[in-house]
Amino acid sequence: MKKIYIGLLGLFIFNHVIAQGNTPISASMDKVKFDFTLDAGGKPGYEVFYDQKPIIKPSRMGIKLLNDTNLDNGFSLIGTERKAVDETWKPVWGEVSSIRNHYEQVTIHLKQTSTKRLLDIIFRVFADGVGFRYEFPQQTNLKYFIVSDETTEFALAGDNKTFWIPGDYDSNEYPYTVSKISEINNQKMVAGSDDIAVKDVPDKYAIQTPLMMKTPEGLYINIHEAALVNYTSMQLHVDTATYKLSVNLVPDAYGNKAYMHAPCHTPWRTIIVSNKATDILESKMILNLNDPSKITNTSWIKPMKFVGVWWEMQTGKATWNYSDRTDTLGADGKLIPNKTHGANTANVERYIDFAAKNGIQGVLVEGWNYGWEDWFGNWKENVFSFVTPYPDFDVDAITKYAASKGVKMIMHNETSGSATDFERQMDTSFRFMNKYGYVAVKTGYVGKIIPRGEHHDGEWMVNHYVRVAEKAASYHIMVDEHEPVRPTGLQRTYPNWMACEAGRGNEYNAFGHGDMPNHETIMPFTRFMGGPMDFTPGILQIKNYTPDPNRQLHTTLVKQLALYVVLYSPLQMAADLPENYEKYMDAFQFIKDVGVDWDDTKVIEAEPGEYITTARKEKGTENWYIGAITNANGRNTQFPLSFLDKGKKYVATIYTDADDADWKANPEAYKITSYLVSADTMLKLKLAPGGGAAISIKPAGTETKGLKNYK
Ligand code: NOJ
Ligand code: CA
Repeated sequence: MKKIYIGLLGLFIFNHVIAQGNTPISASMDKVKFDFTLDAGGKPGYEVFYDQKPIIKPSRMGIKLLNDTNLDNGFSLIGTERKAVDETWKPVWGEVSSIRNHYEQVTIHLKQTSTKRLLDIIFRVFADGVGFRYEFPQQTNLKYFIVSDETTEFALAGDNKTFWIPGDYDSNEYPYTVSKISEINNQKMVAGSDDIAVKDVPDKYAIQTPLMMKTPEGLYINIHEAALVNYTSMQLHVDTATYKLSVNLVPDAYGNKAYMHAPCHTPWRTIIVSNKATDILESKMILNLNDPSKITNTSWIKPMKFVGVWWEMQTGKATWNYSDRTDTLGADGKLIPNKTHGANTANVERYIDFAAKNGIQGVLVEGWNYGWEDWFGNWKENVFSFVTPYPDFDVDAITKYAASKGVKMIMHNETSGSATDFERQMDTSFRFMNKYGYVAVKTGYVGKIIPRGEHHDGEWMVNHYVRVAEKAASYHIMVDEHEPVRPTGLQRTYPNWMACEAGRGNEYNAFGHGDMPNHETIMPFTRFMGGPMDFTPGILQIKNYTPDPNRQLHTTLVKQLALYVVLYSPLQMAADLPENYEKYMDAFQFIKDVGVDWDDTKVIEAEPGEYITTARKEKGTENWYIGAITNANGRNTQFPLSFLDKGKKYVATIYTDADDADWKANPEAYKITSYLVSADTMLKLKLAPGGGAAISIKPAGTETKGLKNYK
């Protein structure tokens, strides 16, 4: 830690001072350093350095107020405080079993001369980056106020390579574009994304966070936010000429950004940086900036894998709706069944059987409840009943059947964006789940939000998603939210909020333009920085599914296996149909075996947009799983298994693309081999274009006869 110093004479000595004025207030840890300054106009600003080189150049800070004096100038420094924290905590579930939270904190107390208002800016500097937030202390001159904008900037030091999606107020489901900062323009992407249900992009220079970048010098930088509650989400506006990013807050129906009542604070703005891409993926900074769990008894929160009556609807084999139209009633006045309804008792029991037989803990069923005949696109307030099953879904029988097989049921509550309707039904719905033994709920927000005028990523909805997690916790229900705001590490505070979507999942391969072969090599550096995603991996029949025979996934079969390790989620779907898994039972074995909760994680190698290789040790066992993926280019790689216990023998089952595999031409060709391995083994892998490799490693028992040592 370097010393923190405050002075008045720094102007001529320190040339990185923002403007005329004070010497910076600095703090650093390892290679990361930040400087805070107030310029002559009392404008707060900061800089961030990595290894003494600026990665964020002088950038302004502050908050703009609706119809009031902006809190971004005219300040004087009235004091600073520092504290150092080095603690270790244990997540309820996660990628590692214990997390070190080590930072240096500086609180900067500011007073605005003209209004006598107080503003604190808190910086935390970690070895892997910096977080800062604005705090508004209790005071007589500032009580209720409305944020109309943020002055916060991130002035990048160069024309970084960037992995971006448009800054859309309602969707995070875009494919990524890789370009220089100077080349960012989202117009074509937004116009071409006719597979996204609701879009609202303020301008062509709007981009979303987490934003991943690589500098021309080879540093990796990630910008995002942590602990987003009681505020709206942060997007970025790009100045392509100066490489300056400025905060663009998602508005509400009135164009306002956030409603505040001091004492209060903003979320943390986060800048994660390293010279190694693997460090970005292993960073725990965002989790560390979130509050500890608010749930004290967490014994009911259990990571799991699940199958579901789902992909058959996505691919057009079955329907969510029971009837074709709401107004096609029979002589008895009841809906006329269309005979394609997926969530019928017999079909659900088939999934329960498959789960039970294969040790998959959960079954999700979509399309079980009234409302699907007319659920989307009309901004309707009352759409679904969350307690009324369709006539062919015998909830009593299904509950008993699942219980008899030891399978847990996962509820589906699609709201079609009508959050008000969902809030009214929430208690009833959770009571229904408790009554019928459902342990988790998948919610969904496909459609324009009600309250009308609100956005998926605005403050009202930000707080709605938290209310859902809190309410669900009070009923001991785990949550997986689709189409919410992207996560910001709140799973630490609400560990029943296991996963969410907020990104472009595997499903786009079924109904949209698909996920390009580099997609999953970017996602961990972007969407997953905030938390787990329900990506729905594990589609093993890559092509030739109904109703469109020309569609196919943009991966090999083995890459789908590797995603269980590379893409972290404590709720992980085995997304394909039972009948498809039955065709590939030897490959499906990896999905049966792979863990969902981990004692340790090693990101072995990674380059955003190119490749990722991750190894994880399953919680409470000696088993390791490795996933390696590549983009459209084939890849040869090798690495030592040095993370294994020294001197111990293990059996490795290696699932690889066949020699002639290729994501487009020959995606389902694979081979499986088994060998004895140890910590001294150098594993060599060949990944097909768009391919991957998946390896399970278990301590060698008695069943090793005939197995050769890996060479
Ligand atoms: C979109 C979700 O992402 C998908 O998983 C779900 O099946 C549909 N909405 C219907 O709720
Ligand atoms: Ca979705």
